[in-house]
Amino acid sequence: MKIALIGANGQLGTDINNYFKEKGLGVVGLTQEDIEVCDFNVCNEVLKKIKPDLIINTAAFHRVNLCEDEVLSSFKVNALGVKNLAKICLDLDIPLMHFSTDFVFGGDKSTPYTEGDCPKPVSLYGISKLSGEHIIQYMLSKYYLVRVCGLYGHAGPYGKGSNFVDLMIKLAKEGKDIKVVDDQVLTPTSTKDVTEKLYELIQTDKYGLYHMTNTGSCSWYEFACEIFKLAGLSPNISPTTSEEFGAKARRPRYSVLDNVNLRKIGLEDLRHWKEALEDYIKEN
Ligand SMILES: NC(=O)c1ccc[n+]([C@@H]2O[C@H](COP(=O)([O-])OP(=O)(O)OC[C@H]3O[C@@H](n4cnc5c(N)ncnc54)[C@H](OP(=O)(O)O)[C@@H]3O)[C@@H](O)[C@H]2O)c1
Repeated sequence: MKIALIGANGQLGTDINNYFKEKGLGVVGLTQEDIEVCDFNVCNEVLKKIKPDLIINTAAFHRVNLCEDEVLSSFKVNALGVKNLAKICLDLDIPLMHFSTDFVFGGDKSTPYTEGDCPKPVSLYGISKLSGEHIIQYMLSKYYLVRVCGLYGHAGPYGKGSNFVDLMIKLAKEGKDIKVVDDQVLTPTSTKDVTEKLYELIQTDKYGLYHMTNTGSCSWYEFACEIFKLAGLSPNISPTTSEEFGAKARRPRYSVLDNVNLRKIGLEDLRHWKEALEDYIKEN
């Protein structure tokens, strides 16, 4: 199988690139120097030359606070870019694998969101990502639309500096006082684990919408405490509230995803987030 992978040097893209190649798949990794998803002509020329059997798009404008001001940029990448790729997939009659986010939900539940729950984003980032979802579902019948949550991976999210795990460890080593919100609940998720599950998913040809996260849940504060425990660090850390933290964009208070559709097609749940985190910290 030949795969065109967009965002090959990003956090998730790096793991997909390495793991899928290890598994013998023909991956053509594309960075933003090779392809600009907002430019249809560029996408068309680059992708039609590759002639892939599957396009994987990890590109996103996902600086959540910045999306509140740079609405046009977020919709260009998260919606228009997706439309460009969907059109090319239609022309080539191939599936598109695309990633969305737990931030399409509003946090009004206190039990895990399933794929059947109605999205209700509370930020422009969430709205732009949901638009991308709608475009795929409107234009294509062959797609893997995968919602992930709280990603961390060895490459770090490009443009954001470092992921949450590495940032916490850095702040602790610098002896900083650390405040972390305790009123937003998520599932921290390893890009390595997601990548392995994606590999299983593309063997199935079972298209559709999927939630894909590690299992279990915690607040960002509990996540930070677990990082410090596993890394053997004891910084001065205290819980805070979203209100006190005062980020520009609202975040859902609760955005845990239940991976119902993966189980329906016979794929096992990913492991518990604490186990995945332990491996990540050991490997670092
Ligand atoms: N990170 C999270 O916690 C999280 C949570 C939920 C959902 N997600 C979703 O998961 C997916 C992967 O996230 P990630 O953390 O791996 O992101 P990332 O590290 O920022 O990687 C994104 C990649 O996309 C490329 N890219 C950005 N804009 C582009 C454009 N206009 N044209 C072409 N390429 C472009 C970037 O290239 P450059 O590096 O050259 O800019 C980068 O390689 C995204 O769809 C995101 O919305 C992430």
